Amino acid sequence: MHTSRRVLTLDEFTIQELRQFPAATGELSGLLREIGLAAKRINVEVNKAGLVDDILGDAGSVNVQGEDVKKLDLFANNQLISVLRNGIYCAGVGSEEDDDIIVFDDEVSNRSKYVVLMDPLDGSSNIDVNTTIGTIFTVYRRVSPLETPCTQKDFLQQGVKVVAAGYVIYGSSTMLVYATRRGVNGFTLDPSIGEFCLSHPKMRCPDKGKIYSVNYGNYPSYSQEVRAYLDACTYKTEENGGPYTMRYIGSMVGDIHRNLIKGGIFLYPGTASKPRGKLRLLYECNPMAFIMEVAGGMATDGTRRILEVVPEHLHQRSPLFLGSKSMMEDLLIKPGN
Ligand code: AHG
Ligand code: MN
Ligand code: MN
Repeated sequence: MHTSRRVLTLDEFTIQELRQFPAATGELSGLLREIGLAAKRINVEVNKAGLVDDILGDAGSVNVQGEDVKKLDLFANNQLISVLRNGIYCAGVGSEEDDDIIVFDDEVSNRSKYVVLMDPLDGSSNIDVNTTIGTIFTVYRRVSPLETPCTQKDFLQQGVKVVAAGYVIYGSSTMLVYATRRGVNGFTLDPSIGEFCLSHPKMRCPDKGKIYSVNYGNYPSYSQEVRAYLDACTYKTEENGGPYTMRYIGSMVGDIHRNLIKGGIFLYPGTASKPRGKLRLLYECNPMAFIMEVAGGMATDGTRRILEVVPEHLHQRSPLFLGSKSMMEDLLIKPGN
C-alpha cells in the first residue's frame, strides 16, 4: 500500500458518505463501524490460529485441532455479539452458531432500528490448513415496532429488503467489503495503523469472466442441467469466450471475492440427496447475492432470484448460483428456451 497517498479509513469513508445525506441519522454508519471493530478483533485471533494450535495448544491431535477450529468459530460469534450488544445500533442478531435469534432486549437496543444476520466464520474447515476464511454479515431494518424487543419476523425478511451486506476476508491481507444500494466498496486492513482503508472503491463485477467455481466432486449428483452447464464450461474454446479456468477453495467468501474482482461464476447446486444444497439462505446466500447484484452481477437459486425468496426458517438452505452477468445468463438460458 502507498504510504504517501492519503487513503480514507472506513470511519472516514462512512462519515464522508453521511455528509452527502444531511437527513441520515448515522445509525447504519455506526453499525458498520461496530462490525469493523469486531472484525479487527477476529482478525487478530485468526492470525494466531496456527500458533495456538501448534505451539500453545495440547499438541497436535485431531481432536484438539477440531476443538480449536470450533473455538475460533465461537470466538468470532461471541466477539460480534458482544460488540453489537454493547453498541447502540443493533436490536438483535441471527447467527449460524445459534439455533435461535438473540434478542438484546434492553432499553438502548430496543430503540435500535437494525438487526444483523451473520456467519461469524465461513469456510472454517480451512482454518487448520491456513487458507482463506471469512465473516459474512447482513443488515435489515426491523419490521417490529421500535421501543419493543425485536422478533423473528425482523430476521425472516426477503433479500430485497437488505439494507447493507458485507464480508470480511482473512486472506493474504484482510479486507472488509460492504455493499449498500449506493455501491460496493472494499477496505484493506492496514496493520500498521489497525484501520480498514479504502482500497477498492466502487467495485464492479466484470460482465464477462472466465472462472467457474464449483465442488466438482459432487458432479455425479448434480441435475442434468447443471452437469450440462459444467460440461459447456469445461469445453469452452477461444471461439466462444473460453477457455475457462476452474477455481474452488471451498471457502465461499474467498471464491466469491475472487470472482467478484476477476469475473466468474460460483455454483453450489442442490444434489439428489440434498436438493436445497448446503449454503444457508439468510446469512450466506442473501448477503452474497446482494453484494453481487449491487456490483452488476446476478444471483439465483436456479429458478428464482435469490433476493426474492421468502424465508421460512432462520437456518434454511438454498442452492446458489451467482456471478458475472453474461455467465449467469448462459446458465439460465438453456438451449431450446
Ligand atoms: P461454514 O464454514 O460456515 O460451515 O461454510 C462453509 C461453506 C462455504 O464457505 C463453502 O463454499 C462450502 O461450505 C464448501 O462446501 P463443500 O466442501 O461441500 O464444497
Ligand atoms: Mn458458512
Ligand atoms: Mn460458519
